[in-house]
Amino acid sequence: MNLERPLTGRVALVTGGAMGIGFAAARHLAQRGATVIIADRQGAEQAAADLRELDLSAHGTTVDVSSEDAVNTLADTVIGQHGKLDILLNNAGIYSSLKPAPFETLSVDQWRRVFDVNVMGIFLVCRALLPLLKSSEHARIINISSGVAFKGNPWMAHYVASKGAVISLTRALATELGSHAITVNSVAPGFTLSDGVHGNPDLVAGVKEPSLRNRVLARDMLPADLTGAIDFFAGDQAAFITGQTLVVDGGAYF
Ligand code: NAI
Repeated sequence: MNLERPLTGRVALVTGGAMGIGFAAARHLAQRGATVIIADRQGAEQAAADLRELDLSAHGTTVDVSSEDAVNTLADTVIGQHGKLDILLNNAGIYSSLKPAPFETLSVDQWRRVFDVNVMGIFLVCRALLPLLKSSEHARIINISSGVAFKGNPWMAHYVASKGAVISLTRALATELGSHAITVNSVAPGFTLSDGVHGNPDLVAGVKEPSLRNRVLARDMLPADLTGAIDFFAGDQAAFITGQTLVVDGGAYF
């Protein structure tokens, strides 16, 4: 095995991979040898082109993970273009665009939209790509949850609940897919200065300083801080680990 590029020959799909945590993960997985498919609502082709500029193997495809039809088309594309899938990183999620709101003011539409992307998106993508994963000898599903699923967070009940659901879905899928030797794990990031977060000055103003104060490792958290955990679950070293959630937050919640 090529120790520098242990994922050589494997195909990885990263949802929401055009920017932020997803893009950092896509670049990292490609640097580790994988062929990466960036699946995003927007910017996927450009992000893949940026990785190809770095001599990495990447493809981009546009998809809204909350649309059943679009996700089924995505699965057809992956089958047609690659014929296999080894690593599925369910990262697409709504976070940075959310306006914090008291629980009693949340509308059904607000609640539904968050669950449509953050939870149903994972359901749809996993369901559509499961046939491919079942025929991989190194099948990995990695879901991005959030540290707030453990701690809670005021004015974000829909988001917090959706990320709790991601952890439960991770465990449910792990028990169901173990017989196919597919591992299913989750990474729960703390507050991360991603592209989306940078694009929301109110969020940066409201959360950056408090999260820095609460963190044992007292510095800002960046998307690159998550690639180690994702790499770990994606690789052979985690072949016997499933159903787990790894919190990566610089020590914020203890
Ligand atoms: P970001 O906003 O920087 O990037 C999100 C990407 O997902 C974008 O490229 C966007 O186009 C894509 N996306 C959004 N909805 C989509 C959809 N319906 N279909 C396909 N693609 C879609 O986000 P960030 O901050 O990198 O977050 C990534 C994941 O990490 C999300 O699941 C988020 O909830 C989670 N997370 C983020 C934290 C943070 O502080 N940034 C903390 C904990 C979890």
